[in-house]
Amino acid sequence: MPKVLVTRKIPENGIKLLKDAGFEVEVSDFDGVLPREQLLAKVKGVDAILSLLTDKMNAEVMEAAGPQLKIIANYAVGIDNIDLKDAAAHNVIITNTPGVLTESVAEHAIALIFAIARKIVESDQFMRDGKYVGWGPMMFLGNDLVGKTLGLIGLGRIGEAVAKRMTDGFQMKILYYDVKRNEEAEQKYKLEYRDLESLLKDSDFVSIHVPMTPETKHLVNGDRMKMMKKTAYLINTSRGPVVDENALVAALKNGDIKGVALDVYEQEPKMAEGLAQLPNTVLTPHTASATEETRGAMSELAAKNIIAVLSGQAPITPIKL
Ligand code: GLV
Ligand code: GLV
Repeated sequence: MPKVLVTRKIPENGIKLLKDAGFEVEVSDFDGVLPREQLLAKVKGVDAILSLLTDKMNAEVMEAAGPQLKIIANYAVGIDNIDLKDAAAHNVIITNTPGVLTESVAEHAIALIFAIARKIVESDQFMRDGKYVGWGPMMFLGNDLVGKTLGLIGLGRIGEAVAKRMTDGFQMKILYYDVKRNEEAEQKYKLEYRDLESLLKDSDFVSIHVPMTPETKHLVNGDRMKMMKKTAYLINTSRGPVVDENALVAALKNGDIKGVALDVYEQEPKMAEGLAQLPNTVLTPHTASATEETRGAMSELAAKNIIAVLSGQAPITPIKL
């Protein structure tokens, strides 16, 4: 019977699919990221691993598993936790969960845009602290979205889903930067293609939607934050290291930009020193895809990839190695 290791508890529907397919499924019951030694012990002899973005998947794990390992199905769209060269060298198929989380992540990015622009978190705290003594004309003045410019760094599925909603829905002007131009999306959502520098200069909100690669590390660094408007907000739901987080704290303190809303951090689960103390920040714990609907769909898609590969069929959403 083929063996599958699921490295942490995930929604049950995918696990049920794996069991119904007749596999022997072990779901780690460790409360947290499986410690390395335990992971290396548990993968021994498995045919498939359902991994999380918090599990580093490299030659060490593939060798600990053994030559029968056929697939690592990552429970994420991002695959920066997986060494693709090692996977190719060990003949291991890698899959991710694209598509099923696009809308959830886009909605979270939009929620962060609203939260930072309208000071939702700060004013919520104000109420809870009992500081509200009466209406005030100058209290918690935020900014409107209507007529403002939103700059999207990265126009993959998620960036495009944000564009679609913000252009007609909230009447924003939308600029985008990507390594690839997408003229069809430009027409459909009235987008304007810009180079990164010009996008940063002209945007009131900048939202990041690129994958983490060596090229995107610190794509938004201190110098680029200085190019932004002093009144601009930065939103990141992609991967922490795309933004230089120490430079970001400095930029907020210096007033180079007005505020930031983050779902991802450079050294998760840590935050850069000083970030949590700044008022002009909204911070969520890497929960952009965390809806009941989407996490269920991710569980199912990861399971279906494993079932396909272990029954000799092509994976559904493979990563090109
Ligand atoms: C979440 O961060 C993902 O990559 O799916
Ligand atoms: C992820 O789904 C992306 O391509 O943006």
